[in-house]
Amino acid sequence: MSRSTTAAEPSITQELLQPFALTPSLELSNRILMAPMTRSMADDDLVPTEDMAEYYARRAAAGLIITEATIVRADGQGYPNTPGIFTDAQVEGWRRVTDRVHQEGGKIFLQIWHVGRVSHPSFLDGADPIAPSAVPLEGRVNRTKDLYYGTPRALETDEIPGLVQAFADGAANAIRAGFDGVEIHGANGYLLDQFLHYHTNLRDDVYGGPVGNHLRFPLEVVDAVIAAVGAERTAIRLSPGAYFHMSGDPRDAEVFKALLKQLEGRRVAYVHAGIFDDSQTFDELDGQTASGFLRTNYNGTLVGCGSYSPETGARAVRDQRFDLLAIGRPFIANADLVERVRSDEPLKEYHADMLDTLE
Ligand SMILES: Cc1cc2nc3c(=O)[nH]c(=O)nc-3n(C[C@H](O)[C@H](O)[C@H](O)COP(=O)(O)O)c2cc1C
Repeated sequence: MSRSTTAAEPSITQELLQPFALTPSLELSNRILMAPMTRSMADDDLVPTEDMAEYYARRAAAGLIITEATIVRADGQGYPNTPGIFTDAQVEGWRRVTDRVHQEGGKIFLQIWHVGRVSHPSFLDGADPIAPSAVPLEGRVNRTKDLYYGTPRALETDEIPGLVQAFADGAANAIRAGFDGVEIHGANGYLLDQFLHYHTNLRDDVYGGPVGNHLRFPLEVVDAVIAAVGAERTAIRLSPGAYFHMSGDPRDAEVFKALLKQLEGRRVAYVHAGIFDDSQTFDELDGQTASGFLRTNYNGTLVGCGSYSPETGARAVRDQRFDLLAIGRPFIANADLVERVRSDEPLKEYHADMLDTLE
């Protein structure tokens, strides 16, 4: 009886272990990235701790670690104990993390963040969250018991340059803290995404309305970050399909197409799909998935993410649906994920209660 010889063939996941030249000055040892994941474990001054340094160091075999989202300004906070990158103590705290990851031979980007309307006055000294427009948000604040979202305050036009500067300063501080680069958090319904999607951007100044205005703030952030740290050390995460804290609009696709064209010209390090399940398709993206839409409209390096296993992710990379695979929850469950892929060992299953500790 003829039997398949799959057992003797090298597993497709081994292809993820090939190195990848991300930029002329940054070679990744493999194509498995650790996706950014908020852990809410910074101290009360939003300073990264020693435990966080060890948590990231244990995962240094990833081709690139992308840290949990890190706020660039105090009014960018929307969850308890998320780290910042705007005080000297925070820079020093992150320096411990980057030193440990580099000692273990890893590479690490800082994800820089402002939550915009996804916040609550209890994080903001009683002030209302800020956003492009005063569009209310419903639901309970994640990782809290009894805080509910409300209606944010629409930003004045003359407040926007200060926010752009905060991202540039955050990026410069990240480099001071020893990071290899930064990923601008433009995804998942937070501040940049709120400008990009029509649902949350009803502005009638130069930051809303026609397509060019919708992408103006995010592009100003990208340009300011590039000016601060260089395009090779600048990446961005995007959610072209609205799926988290907002709803889609048929006009959204044009905004993202125009933004992606602009990003191509700037030669950023990569674009990263911000999505929980990349099999989800979006009517407003002509039925495409997040990574499918990004691949169609962007020619640079693309990072895919969203409910992939090493096997399904390796298949997607082989099929050129994206270039690099970011893995999130399985990396929480398996600090040694890359080793397990190398030795073809099964992964431990992720459970939400693993978020209670930094293992
Ligand atoms: C606990 C948790 C925290 C997350 N925090 C962030 C974050 O800070 N920034 C971000 O861009 N995405 C965040 N995400 C989304 C992940 O980066 C990723 O897109 C998602 O988990 C899907 O990938 P996975 O199926 O491999 O986990 C978070 C996801 C989880 C589960």
